[in-house]
Amino acid sequence: MIVERQKGLLILGIETSCDDTCVAVYDSAFGLLQNVICTQEFYHNYYGGVIPRLAYGQHKTAVKTVLKYVCLFLKIKINYIFTIVYTNGPGLYNPLTVGASVAQRLGVMLHIPVYSVNHLEGHVFSSFLGCESYIRFPHVSLVASGGHTLLVTYTKRNFCVVLGSTKDDAVGEVFDKLARYLGFGYPGGSVIEKISKSIKPNVKGIFVNMEQHGFNFSFSGLKTCICKSIQNNVITLRCVSTKAFNIENMLLDKLHKISCRAVSYTNTTLLTSTGGVCANKFLANQLRTIRNCFILVPELTFSGDNAAMLILSVYVNLFK
Ligand code: KG4
Ligand code: ZN
Repeated sequence: MIVERQKGLLILGIETSCDDTCVAVYDSAFGLLQNVICTQEFYHNYYGGVIPRLAYGQHKTAVKTVLKYVCLFLKIKINYIFTIVYTNGPGLYNPLTVGASVAQRLGVMLHIPVYSVNHLEGHVFSSFLGCESYIRFPHVSLVASGGHTLLVTYTKRNFCVVLGSTKDDAVGEVFDKLARYLGFGYPGGSVIEKISKSIKPNVKGIFVNMEQHGFNFSFSGLKTCICKSIQNNVITLRCVSTKAFNIENMLLDKLHKISCRAVSYTNTTLLTSTGGVCANKFLANQLRTIRNCFILVPELTFSGDNAAMLILSVYVNLFK
């Protein structure tokens, strides 16, 4: 049965920038109604990283099915949608075009506005999904994913300043590369976290002190250093869990330190941390030690790529 809707404006989100086909529907009166993430992890896992051409094919196959599923599940007709948002980048070129073309075709067909959103801006707002009342300005956001590592401060609605970003590899990319190097599998970050959990809590991590100033990140030196130590058996303390534990410590410590610096520089009392890497519990606990600052970490389903985050970013910046 299709129910007629009385309240709220429905916003549809489509995200296809990397290896997840995501569709979400947000109701301006009731909040998030549905957030579907159709992951391609299974296919890319075989290659130890995302294969763009494979991702493109999978998005093309999945996007319409996911859209139909969402409408059926919510018992809504597609013409109840009031606005559509999709990711315009950064991301993989061909996968991005899948979401863009579906959104634009639907927009023309339904005569409704279509907005394109920066993927990273979406990540910034993902922390507020489910707790929209926490949205306040100014705040600092750490975005750490497979493609990006970025510190940004939102001083007011629709206005942000990039404090720093990675000068080489993104932190998630380093996790993925090291995990592949060690034969742990993909996605590297979550596998490394799972393996390192088996380590005894009293084992101290090895820290390589590579001092950096400012708010920019650099991970390639650390990556080479870790690879060399693995080769030279310096951090191979008996078992794989120790290796994983040390990798996690070294990479995430850098995120923690620079975020800390950004919070005190901007004198803000709210730090949000988002992106796939921020699903890491060790990082969340490290960030929570920052004094006089409330740390907002999104729910696990919202920390990686999703379409709900795009909708919230448009909704907060343009409609609220
Ligand atoms: O945001 P995301 O889902 O996709 C984009 O890259 O945009 O992030 C994926 C990245 C991968 O590199 C993966 O290794 C990392 O997030 N990741 C983690 C964890 N779960 C996923 N890194 C550290 N700890 C985790 N628990
Ligand atoms: Zn992402």
